[in-house]
Amino acid sequence: MMREFIIILLTSLVLRPGAAGPLCFSCSSMSQAHFCDVTERCGDHQVCYVEEVLTNSGHIKYTSGCVYNQTCTKSVISDHTAHGQVTCLDCCQGDMCNNKGCGDTGPMVRPYRGPYCFQCEHQSHPSECEQLNICDVDQMCGIQEHFDGFGRQYTSGCRGKLECQTHTHMLVGRDVRFTDKRVDRCNICCDDDFCNYACSQNHSTSGSTAPTKAPILQHITAPITPAPGPTFGPWGEWQPCTRTCGRGWQERYRKCDDVMNGLLSSASCSRSGVDTRECFNDVCEDCNALYSIGYNVSGNYTIYPDQTSGYDVYCEMQPGSGGWIVLQHRFDGSEMFNRSFVEYEHGFGDLNGEFWLGLEKISKLTNPGRKVEFRLQTYNGTWMTLDYGNFSVANASQQYALNVSQHISGFSPETFEYNSGEKFYTYDRDNIDHCAVRRFAGWWFGSCTYLNINGEYGLRDDESGIIEHFNNLHYHNFQTTLMMIQ
Ligand SMILES: *[C@@H]1O[C@H](CO)[C@@H](O)[C@H](O)[C@H]1NC(C)=O
Ligand SMILES: *[C@@H]1O[C@H](CO)[C@@H](O)[C@H](O)[C@H]1NC(C)=O
Ligand SMILES: *[C@@H]1O[C@H](CO)[C@@H](O)[C@H](O)[C@H]1NC(C)=O
Ligand SMILES: *[C@@H]1O[C@H](CO)[C@@H](O)[C@H](O)[C@H]1NC(C)=O
Ligand SMILES: *[C@@H]1O[C@H](CO)[C@@H](O)[C@H](O)[C@H]1NC(C)=O
Ligand SMILES: *[C@@H]1O[C@H](CO)[C@@H](O)[C@H](O)[C@H]1NC(C)=O
Ligand SMILES: *[C@@H]1O[C@H](CO)[C@@H](O)[C@H](O)[C@H]1NC(C)=O
Ligand SMILES: *[C@@H]1O[C@H](CO)[C@@H](O)[C@H](O)[C@H]1NC(C)=O
Ligand SMILES: *[C@@H]1O[C@H](CO)[C@@H](O)[C@H](O)[C@H]1NC(C)=O
Repeated sequence: MMREFIIILLTSLVLRPGAAGPLCFSCSSMSQAHFCDVTERCGDHQVCYVEEVLTNSGHIKYTSGCVYNQTCTKSVISDHTAHGQVTCLDCCQGDMCNNKGCGDTGPMVRPYRGPYCFQCEHQSHPSECEQLNICDVDQMCGIQEHFDGFGRQYTSGCRGKLECQTHTHMLVGRDVRFTDKRVDRCNICCDDDFCNYACSQNHSTSGSTAPTKAPILQHITAPITPAPGPTFGPWGEWQPCTRTCGRGWQERYRKCDDVMNGLLSSASCSRSGVDTRECFNDVCEDCNALYSIGYNVSGNYTIYPDQTSGYDVYCEMQPGSGGWIVLQHRFDGSEMFNRSFVEYEHGFGDLNGEFWLGLEKISKLTNPGRKVEFRLQTYNGTWMTLDYGNFSVANASQQYALNVSQHISGFSPETFEYNSGEKFYTYDRDNIDHCAVRRFAGWWFGSCTYLNINGEYGLRDDESGIIEHFNNLHYHNFQTTLMMIQ
């Protein structure tokens, strides 16, 4: 989003010991009230305010900060300031409540935006920090205390969720890893607005009060009759959603026809010329993206690997490991797998039954490489899995050659890596050892394969059946097979 605005930082009030007022947003001349990223601790009998000014050049600007409570009850706002005409004043009681008002509906609700976090370095006490940052959706707030011999110092700001998760011990308060003197008491990640105001999750640090999480809004509005203002035309179409996969937001606009000078102009277009709403789309690149926006039931879904064109795939949704695109599924022998090269290329079968997705799609989906998992059920009902971190299939010009590496778990790495580098063969385009004909299957045969999931259904203890036999003394026979990628 374009944020063409200048935030003029108010000269911060010196934090007086004993200052007992609320903590407020404090910025001037912003194009939207909720762009403010500076805070100010108010004095006794003060509340937070936001005011709308129609500037001399015809723009709407917002200013926020602390104001004496009496000011809100009386219309003491002068009609004109040096900057323009004050057209609205909203006061509110509670911490951090003045990032909306006077027609500005405030920032998006969580979780469509990241948290407001304090962001400072080298503070000798966390409450000295007055700078905020509106963090990204995938970020949390962090605060850390250093103790380096010169004294205590605090560093606060946005932190990646991943960074916080990989150090889950941060979430409970103290970072247990740092027991030496350099980093002392706290190293915290937290997810609520303003939650890194202090160096404890409770905000129970001596003397300072943290902003309340959900500020109570008690608007005391002092509406000022605006001069005959601009009138708006009808709303335009909703703009595209900011996200095609998941929840985002979208805007629509209306023109303001400024007839003050008998001229049509857009000079006075302001915040109220923009309308914002949440939107949701499920045009996602793969099954894991669908899983991550809430689709957790396995089945047939349309995916859009290249954004524009989509096709149906079977998604195996597994709580814990996410969504997987199924490349091959067999469970009852209803589909024949002794097929020609062209059939393996284009795919065959029914997504809701037994099928092979097709080498053309598999090749496109695995460039760059993806994780691959085989889920195999033996005749006694036991499930066995085989996982690799990097699976890719070249295109038709290289006869869909396989490259698989990074064995994660299951059987022996060689079970499938043995086939790496091999082209895809079928009975009508077979290799020198006639593996496709001998093993009744299409596959990336070397001479030939330890894993034959495309072999003949129901054939037991036979290398042409659906088997795994890396350990040649012992065949694993399978009644159900799933080959899938993520
Ligand atoms: C501000 O004024 C309102 C209305 O007069 C009153 O209800 C409220 O208690 C006052 N708040 C403070 C913080 O003085
Ligand atoms: C947080 O507050 C609870 C109860 O209010 C208290 O028992 C706990 O010790 C506090 N934790 C910290 C880190 O201050
Ligand atoms: C799937 O999503 C629904 C709705 O969000 C939820 O109630 C359910 O617990 C989820 N199931 C699993 C297995 O995660
Ligand atoms: C997937 O489901 C949709 C909706 O039920 C259906 O129209 C479509 O034919 C299915 N696709 C396949 C390949 O089964
Ligand atoms: C596989 O199909 C080919 C062509 O239809 C056929 O010649 C061959 O006998 C089949 N093999 C098996 C084991 O059915
Ligand atoms: C996966 O393998 C491909 C070659 O098939 C290679 O280009 C790519 O860098 C590998 N990716 C990772 C993450 O190792
Ligand atoms: C089922 O078969 C698997 C693999 O052949 C074997 O490891 C497992 O012990 C068997 N389980 C039972 C209950 O027979
Ligand atoms: C196939 O892959 C090769 C090597 O990656 C590339 O040079 C070629 O352009 C690709 N052909 C098609 C039709 O995509
Ligand atoms: C697979 O890709 C890697 C990384 O690009 C490459 O080093 C390796 O030679 C390839 N293996 C085969 C068997 O093609």
